[in-house]
Amino acid sequence: MHQRLMNEAIRVKDMAYAPYSDFRVGAAVLAGDKIYTGCNIENISYGATCCAERVAIFKAISEGIRDFKAIAVASDSSGPTFPCGICLQVMAEFNVPKIVVSDGGGGYNEYTLDDLLPWAFDDISRSL
Ligand code: THU
Repeated sequence: MHQRLMNEAIRVKDMAYAPYSDFRVGAAVLAGDKIYTGCNIENISYGATCCAERVAIFKAISEGIRDFKAIAVASDSSGPTFPCGICLQVMAEFNVPKIVVSDGGGGYNEYTLDDLLPWAFDDISRSL
């Protein structure tokens, strides 16, 4: 299943709208019994850009599905493409347990959310 998720991430990378960075990213998340895909969507106001991972996760949530099992991420990079901090925080919010990262050489490695974001922000009361 993780290979299938990765294949989907690689496929949707070609849908990326990335005229500013020219860095195309694809993501595929398994939620419930379906795969939701996403690509990065940039904006001339750079901060309005949304990463591929959040597009995929938000598509599932907007369909009423929050039972996340794994997400795969791919880019054209010759090395691994790890999710950014904001996407990891979104994965923490919705308990995405497993992150499958393309290694840039045709393979992939699997991580837990705890591997990549061991100190997720999770307690608003601490900041009051
Ligand atoms: N990007 C993603 O979509 N996901 C990642 O994991 C890393 C970065 C996008 C954001 C931006 O469009 C481009 O890659 C360069 O940062």
